[in-house]
Amino acid sequence: METLHIACDHAGLELKETLKTALAARGFNLVDHGTRSAESCDYPQYAHALCAAVEAENGRGILICGTGIGMSMAANRHAGIRAALCTTELHARLTRRHNNANVLCLGARVTGVELALAIMNAFLDTDFEGGRHQRRIDQLNPQPAR
Ligand code: RB5
Repeated sequence: METLHIACDHAGLELKETLKTALAARGFNLVDHGTRSAESCDYPQYAHALCAAVEAENGRGILICGTGIGMSMAANRHAGIRAALCTTELHARLTRRHNNANVLCLGARVTGVELALAIMNAFLDTDFEGGRHQRRIDQLNPQPAR
């Protein structure tokens, strides 16, 4: 079964535990990069730990903070990461089809649990379309001037 990486900060802890239960029921092999307590912490360190693993394994991951914004900012600093902050199922489907997003970011303070579960499932169940979308993805990282 696919290995899936997951991480959060203190604001995302409760939602992460809920998602983990659903992911385990789906049979994913989960790697939890923390945080593991409700104590206030700094989201970038969890984003970077998860993204390093996703890049190394060419895998997929889920990051959760209060808004999902800080996690997505940190994640997208990694050249091999295409992180998408999704607030609807349509965002999740389209970012998989068109952007081949490999990290889903969720905001636990702005997205309800049922919607977050639906977004997660849409993200996991949608394939990349390739073709012209791959050409565009190849242009995401800035190239040095020639
Ligand atoms: C933590 O209070 C909050 O700033 C963080 O979870 C996140 O929303 C940052 O983008």
